[in-house]
Amino acid sequence: VKILLLGKDGQVGWELQRALAPLGEVLALGHASAGEDCGDLTDTVGLARTVKRFNPEVIVNAAAYTAVDNAESEERLAFEVNAEAAALLARLAAERDALLVHYSTDYVFDGSGQAPWRETDPVGPRNVYGRSKLQGEQAIQTSGCRHLIFRTSWIYAARGANFTKTVLRLAAERDTLTMIDDQKGVPTGADLIADTTALAIRQLASGSRAHCGIYHLAAAGETSWYDYARHVLRQAQALGAPLKATDLAVQPVPSSAFPLAAVRPLNSRLNTSKLRDTFDLVMPPWQAGVDRVLTEILSK
Ligand SMILES: NC(=O)c1ccc[n+]([C@@H]2O[C@H](COP(=O)([O-])OP(=O)(O)OC[C@H]3O[C@@H](n4cnc5c(N)ncnc54)[C@H](OP(=O)(O)O)[C@@H]3O)[C@@H](O)[C@H]2O)c1
Repeated sequence: VKILLLGKDGQVGWELQRALAPLGEVLALGHASAGEDCGDLTDTVGLARTVKRFNPEVIVNAAAYTAVDNAESEERLAFEVNAEAAALLARLAAERDALLVHYSTDYVFDGSGQAPWRETDPVGPRNVYGRSKLQGEQAIQTSGCRHLIFRTSWIYAARGANFTKTVLRLAAERDTLTMIDDQKGVPTGADLIADTTALAIRQLASGSRAHCGIYHLAAAGETSWYDYARHVLRQAQALGAPLKATDLAVQPVPSSAFPLAAVRPLNSRLNTSKLRDTFDLVMPPWQAGVDRVLTEILSK
């Protein structure tokens, strides 16, 4: 299988380089990839030329504008990367009957209620980032291309910027931490997302339209940022990390204590039964992946 991977240096993109390698020939491009092999999603001409030249059977788009707060003041760029580039990739995929794999977010929902969101639930993004990601989803769905869209949440990895690493840094600098306890979701490892992507591509690369569509992809269980932070610190302590703040020094606060440019949904839980049933997968508990990444980070 010929696979074009975009966004190779992001959290998910980095893990995809590993997970996709056994499937075939992978051309992995990043934001800075230019010339013959253009990986900049805002360079529509370069991107189209690259797809035409490489002629992939699968396009995996792990690139995105992910700066959620900055998106409030950079709306144009957020839509260019998350919506318009997704539409272009869908067109390019449809032209050659390639499979397009794309990632979206729990932020397409309004965060109401307590129940994990299903794929069929009504959307209602509360910030610019969420609206731009939703428009990207919709462009792909209406393009007629074969596609897989994975909505995921609270991504972490050993590489890249994420909550797990922020908690470790803050706990090394401060005696006490305050963490939001009224937003609920599921931390999901970039490695789990990449491995699930590879398994799904294996089932679809033959050209079948069966199983195309949108799926919620998250680890099992749920937590709050507060309990997530406490888990990280308990584990980090057990692994011998020198910390000023222990898990007992974390104070729970409501979202209102941390006013940010972009409003976050309170309920980010995702129901993953469609993914599990369709691809016959088991999603591991979120703690297992976080513990692995902590071991990796702290053994460096
Ligand atoms: N992170 C989360 O918690 C989360 C939650 C739910 C869904 N998602 C979605 O999951 C996917 C993967 O997220 P992630 O956490 O792996 O993101 P990430 O670590 O922020 O990586 C995104 C990558 O996209 C690149 N990029 C940005 N603008 C680009 C452009 N114009 N052209 C080409 N590349 C560009 C970035 O490069 P630069 O660093 O050079 O800009 C970065 O390498 C995204 O679709 C995201 O929306 C993320």
